[in-house]
This record gives sequence, C-alpha cells and structure tokens, in this order.
Amino acid sequence: MPFDRSIKIAPSILAADFANFGAEVQAVEAQGADWIHIDVMDGHFVPNLTFGPPMVKALRRHVTTVMDVNLMISPVDTYIDAYADAGADVLTAHVEAGPHIHRTLQAIRGAGMKAGVALNPGTPAEAVAQVLDLCDLVCVMTVNPGFGGQSFIDMSGKITQLRQMIGDREVHIEIDGGVDVKTAHGVVLAGADVLVAGSAVFRGGSVSDPAPYGENIRAIRAAAGA
Ligand code: DX5
Repeated sequence: MPFDRSIKIAPSILAADFANFGAEVQAVEAQGADWIHIDVMDGHFVPNLTFGPPMVKALRRHVTTVMDVNLMISPVDTYIDAYADAGADVLTAHVEAGPHIHRTLQAIRGAGMKAGVALNPGTPAEAVAQVLDLCDLVCVMTVNPGFGGQSFIDMSGKITQLRQMIGDREVHIEIDGGVDVKTAHGVVLAGADVLVAGSAVFRGGSVSDPAPYGENIRAIRAAAGA
C-alpha cells in the first residue's frame, strides 16, 4: 500500500444496502471509490451494532481497492488478529477505547496491517502526540460515532494541528462523519487527505442503478479540490 497524500474518497458501507454488501462494494468501486470504509460497531463503545470479523472476511473478496476498517469497539486488542485474518488493509482503533493505545498500534502493525488511530470530537489532538510514529493514519471523527447521516461537526482546528504535528511522516489524516460537497473543501484545506462519506455517496443510487454513486463521488472529489 504505497503512501501518497492525494485525495481519496472512502465510501462507508454503513450507508449501503445491508442485504447486499458484496454487490454494493463492487458497484461503488466501479463508480470511482478509492478505499472502502467499514465501520465496525459493538453496541458498547458506540450505541449501535453493525458487523464483525466474519462479515469483513466475506467482504474481502469483493474489495479490490483498500479495505479500511474502523473499530468503534472496546476493548480492541483481543480482535486484532481476527481482522488481520479477515484481510483488513488498514485497522483503526479509537484512542478512547482503552488505556494502552501505544500497545494496540504496535499490535496492529505486528499483525501486518496499517495502523490507524481515531479521535472522537471531544478528544484533543494531543491525545495522539506520543504515537504518531506508530500509526499510518489518524482519523478525525466529525460526528459522534454510531450512526450515518449526522450533522458535520467542524474540527478544522484539530485537523490543522494534527497536520502540523504529523510533519513529514507518512501518515494520512482521515475525516469521518458528515463529509459531503459542502464540507469536503474545508477539511482538505485544513490538511485531510482521506474523506470517508456514507450518505453523501450512496444517496440516490442502488446496486441496480449505481450511476448516482459515481456522480456523488465525483462531486465530493471536485468540491474537495475546489
Ligand atoms: C459514524 C460513522 C459515519 C459513517 C459516515 O459512526 O463512522 O460517520 O462512517 O456516515 P455519513 O457520511 O453518512 O456521515
């Protein structure tokens, strides 16, 4: 997975048809998705329950780009090997999920995956200052995690601060939550390069009519670069 800071659009399957994930992934990749973002939720760390390792493993054969898995779960460490086995390319843990994020990131890399750390809106950038050499991605949540379709929470100051803290390290800044044609430009200006979008990508389309997926991805990409 070579590193470059070009803008990537990562559709979140949280907004896809839950009865048709394989076909949805194929459709949205064919329509221009750069990564596929998978939000794993445990009903404990966040007030929602989605899917686990077996579903992610089943999805792997449909993903030809990057399988970007965000663990909105606590604890994390006991599940790292299962997501490595499932084929995750990037595995992200929330800094708030437990007391040992340093060890968690070492374990994710040790299992052969790119390591990500996520920060909820209330968590300051300083929370990851000591682990920037252990991660490949920092995910800035711009909603309180648990559901798609929520209103964007402006985190521009945190994004800019993280961009400065990261310096020339090969670390992506990913934005997750409420990303659409209105918010994409601001987060890129602040320093983001991976844009997770669920509602804004899957809106208006379906597996049988995927053209809106492509239109939505192109519109977000254009807005990001505007
Ligand atoms: C929240 C989820 C959502 C999802 C994207 O826990 O992480 O942010 O990925 O959903 P939209 O793009 O609809 O806000």
